[in-house]
Amino acid sequence: MPALIVGNWKMNGTGEAVAEIAEMAGAGMGVGAPSLWIAPPFTLIDRAVIVSAGGVKIGGQDCHAKASGAHTGCVSAAMLADLGANFVIVGHSERRRDNGEGNADVRAKAMAGKAAGLEVILCIGETRDERDAGQTNEVLSTQLAGSLPDDAEALIIAYEPVWAIGTGLVPTLEDVAAAHAHIRARLVACYGPAGHGVRILYGGSVTPANAGDLLQVAEVGGVLVGGASLTAASLLAIAAAA
Ligand code: 13P
Repeated sequence: MPALIVGNWKMNGTGEAVAEIAEMAGAGMGVGAPSLWIAPPFTLIDRAVIVSAGGVKIGGQDCHAKASGAHTGCVSAAMLADLGANFVIVGHSERRRDNGEGNADVRAKAMAGKAAGLEVILCIGETRDERDAGQTNEVLSTQLAGSLPDDAEALIIAYEPVWAIGTGLVPTLEDVAAAHAHIRARLVACYGPAGHGVRILYGGSVTPANAGDLLQVAEVGGVLVGGASLTAASLLAIAAAA
């Protein structure tokens, strides 16, 4: 299965940045090449969909759990789908931290994304303190138990250790393998054989220099990239490493 490379632009990019997406889409990766997906800020999604011309899938970084209603400033999964988005990220640690989102909220958002016909990238990961205390597997299990949607259809998990995001720190390949193996086991426990079909991404300080090694790790089906996804040059270098 070719790797999936997802760029999460977070709160970065204004109009001129869509040129980067056009360049990514025009790169003509060919058969067997990794798939490229980009989650720009909400404000760029419609323009990104147009310039991507299907060469890059475009998605949202979050959605509301409800389809519509009195929720000032929020965007629903149905609205994302209406713009031509193909996927949505839910449960990113920055939303858990900045917006107080818990596992039940993340599960509701995942269900909303699926109901709107989007693929859902559900993020989990431990903090530094939790890793140091030897609680990584326990934390991942709890997050999965509380946030997994009803079925494995259109679901992708992103393992993003909180301490690796934006820090330049990356777990050892052995630690990535252990976390991914644990997540796979939990997915199979939850969904049965369908749990084998859920792709698991690694995220946290992925760069062109380390992507090749990370993508060789068992059960790593792709990467979720923040800072290094903002330019076509950098994202395409990651794709080349894959
Ligand atoms: P960085 O690649 O900047 O560490 O961010 C990772 C991330 O949070 C992607 O969702």
